[in-house]
Amino acid sequence: MHIDPPASAKAALVFGGSRGIGAAIARRLAREGHAVALTYVSRPDRAADVVAAIEAEGGRALAIEADSADAGAIAAAVEHAVAAFGPLHVAVVNAGVHDGSPLAGFRLDVLDRMLAVNVRGVFLAIQASAARMVDGGRLVTIGSNTAVRAGIVGSSVYAMTKSAVATLVRELALDLAPRRITINNVQPGPIETDITAELVDWAIQRSPSGRIGQPGEVAALVAYLAGEEAGYMTGASLTLDGGWAI
Ligand SMILES: NC(=O)c1ccc[n+]([C@@H]2O[C@H](COP(=O)([O-])OP(=O)(O)OC[C@H]3O[C@@H](n4cnc5c(N)ncnc54)[C@H](OP(=O)(O)O)[C@@H]3O)[C@@H](O)[C@H]2O)c1
Repeated sequence: MHIDPPASAKAALVFGGSRGIGAAIARRLAREGHAVALTYVSRPDRAADVVAAIEAEGGRALAIEADSADAGAIAAAVEHAVAAFGPLHVAVVNAGVHDGSPLAGFRLDVLDRMLAVNVRGVFLAIQASAARMVDGGRLVTIGSNTAVRAGIVGSSVYAMTKSAVATLVRELALDLAPRRITINNVQPGPIETDITAELVDWAIQRSPSGRIGQPGEVAALVAYLAGEEAGYMTGASLTLDGGWAI
């Protein structure tokens, strides 16, 4: 599909847009007419692939290396995106890591990394983006249905980080409402990406829907939340999981 974004394309920034759900979100927002900046930390090749795919469809995109555990890198990424595409209309905080083990063997460095990326990094990305966002803009975080339903042994700290995101979003909605900036949290269940590469068969067997979700299904909900029609929804956590959390 070829698109012709208007010269006045609205700027979007996707934190963690090089693979999986974030890549699908970046591509979907480009199809909606946004100029899309996306960050990555370890896979410049995959980030370049997403940029090339967007450009091949006639869109504008930019990849920026920025570790979400690094406050300076997050701030620099926002400034880079704004310099390229103008003030932000949309920011999606998708970057996240899943690592874990049962309680007895849980390593402190793993806990610290998940808190740094999944909680501290989410707060910093929201704070930096909101400061350079137009009034009436849209913030979306990617949480997890593990915030509302126990997952698998070893996911306790990950689930804790995603519960923190849901609460953060609910409370920040009040900070942002006077500027008509909405902030919402999408909570996927198992989605077929690199994170779940080892779990696809298990997820299909366990799922009430008998299947695993696709990144594009998450991107479609993000596109709605990022759009004009979603202006009255804020502070919400929306679970998208084929019935896992019922
Ligand atoms: N897949 C699922 O089943 C599922 C379910 C619920 C929630 N989620 C959440 O959805 C989000 C995306 O998951 P995914 O399955 O798409 O994961 P993925 O395929 O592993 O992709 C992760 C993305 O986040 C980026 N990223 C990771 N750590 C980062 C950091 N420190 N700084 C900047 N970018 C970073 C990665 O960049 P690089 O490519 O450079 O490494 C990549 O673009 C995560 O927040 C995850 O917790 C996933």
